Amino acid sequence: MQDKDAEELEIGDFIRTLKARHGYDFAQYAPASFKRRLRALRVRTGAASISALSRRVTDEPAFLRQVLAGLSVPVSEMFRDPWVFEALRREVLPILASYPRIHIWQAGCAHGEEVYSLAILLQEEGLYDKSQIFATDLNDVALEEAAEGIYAASSARLFSENYQRAGGRYSLSDYFHARYERIKFDESLKRNVTFASHNLSTDGVFAEVQLILCRNVLIYFNDALQNRVLQLFRDSLVHKGFLCLGSKETLAHTTVERDFDAFDLPARLYRRHAPR
Ligand SMILES: C[S@@+](CC[C@H](N)C(=O)[O-])C[C@H]1O[C@@H](n2cnc3c(N)ncnc32)[C@H](O)[C@@H]1O
Repeated sequence: MQDKDAEELEIGDFIRTLKARHGYDFAQYAPASFKRRLRALRVRTGAASISALSRRVTDEPAFLRQVLAGLSVPVSEMFRDPWVFEALRREVLPILASYPRIHIWQAGCAHGEEVYSLAILLQEEGLYDKSQIFATDLNDVALEEAAEGIYAASSARLFSENYQRAGGRYSLSDYFHARYERIKFDESLKRNVTFASHNLSTDGVFAEVQLILCRNVLIYFNDALQNRVLQLFRDSLVHKGFLCLGSKETLAHTTVERDFDAFDLPARLYRRHAPR
C-alpha cells in the first residue's frame, strides 16, 4: 500500500476516534485543508504519526483542547473587510434600531476581533445598551482569549486603519489601553456579550436573532455541512433577519438560496424573507 493511502486510512481513523470519544465530528470538513491542519498538529505535538495522535485522543482526555485548537484556524482581524462593517453600520443597524431588543449571533468568533468590532459599531450608533451579542466558537482556547480582549500591540495599526475605513467616528485607541506589547479593549465593550462554546457541525439553534455574522467559517466545510449550517442560520433568524458571510462565501447553489434575498452582495449580506 502506498504511504498516501496509509495516511488516508489514519486520517479516517483519527476522525472516527475523535467522534466516538468526544462527539466532535470533522468528517464533513473540506479534506485538503483539514489534512494540512492535522499534519501541522502532528508536528507541533511531536506525535510520530497520525495514529499516535489518535491514541493520545483516546488515552488523554485533556489532550482534546489542544486538538481542537490545532484543527481550528482562529485567524481574524478587527473590522476585517472594512466595507462590510461600513455596510452594517449604514444599511443594517438603522433597520435593527427599530427592534426593542437586538440579538446578534457571531458564529466562529475566533479570538473575538469581530465581536469587539461589532460592539464598537453598536456603541457608536447608540444601540449597544439594547443589544446582546452571542459569540460562539468550537475552539475553547480561542474563546477564552476572546473574552480577555487582549491583542498584540503590533496589530493596533491594521485594526485602526480598518476601523477608519469602516467609518469609525473616533480613534480606535479610545477603546483600548496599551500596555507593554499588548492592547486590551475596554471591559465595557463586552458587558452585553455572551461567549459560549457551540459546534456548528452538531449543535442546534442557539437563539432567535436578527443578525448572524459567520464569516470565513463555511469555507472549511464541505457542501453538505455548509447546507446544514445555513439551515441552522435560517432557522435562527427572525423574518427579515440578516445573514453576513465571508467574502469567499455565498448562498448561491445552496439549499437555503430561496429563503433569502441578496441585500448587499459585495458585503455578502443576505436577508431572510417569509416562507413563500
Ligand atoms: C478563520 S476563523 C474566522 C474568524 C472570523 N469570523 C473572521 O472572519 O475573521 C474560523 C473560526 O471558525 C471556527 N470553527 C471551525 N469549525 C467550527 C465549528 N464546527 N463550529 C464552530 N466554530 C467553528 C474556528 O475555531 C475558527 O475560530
